[in-house]
Amino acid sequence: MEGGVFSAQSQKPTYLLLLLHIFLLALLPFKAISSPKTQAEALLTWKNTFASAPPSLTSWSLTDLNNICNWTAIVCDHSTKQVSQIDLSNFNIDATLTHFNFTPFLNLTQFNLNGNNFTGPVPSAIGKLSKLTTLDLGNNFFDQEIPVEISKLTELKYLSFFNNTLTRVIPYQLSNLQKVQFLILGGNYFLETPDWSKFSGMPSLTYLDFYLNFLDSEFPEFISKCLNLTFLDLSRNSFTGQIPQQVFTNLSKLEYLNLTINDFEGPLPSNFPKLKHLHLAQNNFGGPIPKDIGLISGLQIIDLSWNSLEGPIPSSIGQLRELKYLDLRDNSLNSSTPFERGLCTNLTYLDLTSNHLKGKIPPSIGQLRELQYLDLHTNSLDSSIASELGLCTNLAFLGLAVNELNGELPLSLSNLNNISHLSLWANRFTGPLLPSLQLDRSGLFETSKQQL
Ligand SMILES: *[C@@H]1O[C@H](CO)[C@@H](O)[C@H](O)[C@H]1NC(C)=O
Ligand SMILES: *[C@@H]1O[C@H](CO)[C@@H](O)[C@H](O)[C@H]1NC(C)=O
Ligand SMILES: *[C@@H]1O[C@H](CO)[C@@H](O)[C@H](O)[C@H]1NC(C)=O
Ligand SMILES: *[C@@H]1O[C@H](CO)[C@@H](O)[C@H](O)[C@H]1NC(C)=O
Ligand SMILES: *[C@@H]1O[C@H](CO)[C@@H](O)[C@H](O)[C@H]1NC(C)=O
Ligand SMILES: *[C@@H]1O[C@H](CO)[C@@H](O)[C@H](O)[C@H]1NC(C)=O
Ligand SMILES: *[C@@H]1O[C@H](CO)[C@@H](O)[C@H](O)[C@H]1NC(C)=O
Ligand SMILES: *[C@@H]1O[C@H](CO)[C@@H](O)[C@H](O)[C@H]1NC(C)=O
Ligand SMILES: *[C@@H]1O[C@H](CO)[C@@H](O)[C@H](O)[C@H]1NC(C)=O
Ligand SMILES: *[C@@H]1O[C@H](CO)[C@@H](O)[C@H](O)[C@H]1NC(C)=O
Repeated sequence: MEGGVFSAQSQKPTYLLLLLHIFLLALLPFKAISSPKTQAEALLTWKNTFASAPPSLTSWSLTDLNNICNWTAIVCDHSTKQVSQIDLSNFNIDATLTHFNFTPFLNLTQFNLNGNNFTGPVPSAIGKLSKLTTLDLGNNFFDQEIPVEISKLTELKYLSFFNNTLTRVIPYQLSNLQKVQFLILGGNYFLETPDWSKFSGMPSLTYLDFYLNFLDSEFPEFISKCLNLTFLDLSRNSFTGQIPQQVFTNLSKLEYLNLTINDFEGPLPSNFPKLKHLHLAQNNFGGPIPKDIGLISGLQIIDLSWNSLEGPIPSSIGQLRELKYLDLRDNSLNSSTPFERGLCTNLTYLDLTSNHLKGKIPPSIGQLRELQYLDLHTNSLDSSIASELGLCTNLAFLGLAVNELNGELPLSLSNLNNISHLSLWANRFTGPLLPSLQLDRSGLFETSKQQL
């Protein structure tokens, strides 16, 4: 850290050094101009601090000092011949940024160190790179806190600290970055809850990732003011409380919402006109699934599993033509008529396990020709199996165990040639098993034979 030189032991020599610096600086012209040579020297000095220099960086050498624009990972500006981009992503570098001299690179627009073994702090001097539009430090081992100086990088459009070991608190000054479109802070250790009321709306933000960070407040209010948001991932934190319905009213462009694995409770949020992916699993959401969920016509994925939802599965779900994946397992839903209209013909995955569903598997199930996975086990279904189920010839997984299903297995089931998992045990079937099903490959089906 820069501040480190001011420690007690080194105070005197530092003081002299500082004077010397001021003297030398006074001799320089007012405006700093960095030559390609200064930049090359700075990069070499830095490279010499790497624990091991990757072979791919051999072009970074004294003999090639005047050739920096041809160095690996370096892009120069055509007119100024100065370094404009440094892209060292996935170079297998084991180093720190502590020995990187930022001063010769004030015109840098892109700095990418993603996927290396960088350790130590992110130096506050990074705030000098005021022309940066992309800063990607993701997938490293940077530690300590995010320096507030990052908020000086007001040209940034892409900022990622994804998957590091950063701690303390997310600085509210980050919301000064009014041009930022991607803000990716997932996978760190921000153990202190920020005062979200100090954050302001970020009008350009389209992609916000706070995944896996130990955050434990209520829903951060500033997010409702980020009107351009299309992607929001707050999953794997400890966010709590109800989500007020108005939180999402202004986020009319939201397409992807992942709040999986938190402690949110209360009614499900539902006003998302453009939503495609809804991941709300493993929270404490309660009450009914909103009746008009079927009006969010672009929905492709709905995962509401492991919550405390009750009441019926709204029939409007049956209108979702784009729906591919529906997981409502482990709730307290008690009636199901969702596929009567037979419109969600794209559905491949349907899991309604461990609810309180009564009645029958509707004949309209036969319209779900793309269905590969159907799990209804541990409910109270109490009719015979509709022969239309045999039309779902793509089925590879069929789980019907632990219900009160009865009657004979329909002959049509022998059309299900692709079944690799079938469980029918703990039901009340009568009559003979179909010969083709007796050839079944799954262990669970063996159990079912014993139960019959
Ligand atoms: C940055 O680029 C401008 C021209 O675009 C140039 O005038 C200036 O000297 C450069 N700054 C540095 C520190 O190199
Ligand atoms: C840079 O490399 C290219 C090909 O890799 C070569 O043609 C060119 O002469 C090099 N430029 C300099 C200044 O060495
Ligand atoms: C990076 O760190 C991992 C373990 O944390 C280690 O296995 C790997 O060898 C390191 N790579 C380099 C280039 O040091
Ligand atoms: C985080 O980084 C580590 C080490 O670089 C890597 O092994 C791991 O897959 C990354 N995690 C994610 C979620 O990308
Ligand atoms: C919001 O996004 C649209 C494109 O979807 C873009 O044209 C507009 O400039 C963005 N607004 C801001 C403030 O960045
Ligand atoms: C939604 O936007 C309107 C108009 O910009 C604003 O008055 C209102 O406070 C916003 N609602 C939320 C919840 O941020
Ligand atoms: C949503 O978040 C959970 C938890 O972090 C993760 O496992 C899952 O992959 C995410 N879903 C998608 C589609 O990205
Ligand atoms: C389903 O559950 C809801 C709420 O718990 C209840 O009001 C309703 O009577 C139940 N319906 C059936 C058919 O059991
Ligand atoms: C089904 O999915 C395909 C491709 O994933 C998509 O093109 C199509 O619009 C979807 N909807 C319907 C009704 O087939
Ligand atoms: C059967 O399953 C295999 C893989 O599980 C898949 O590649 C194939 O397309 C399926 N066939 C049918 C008719 O669904």
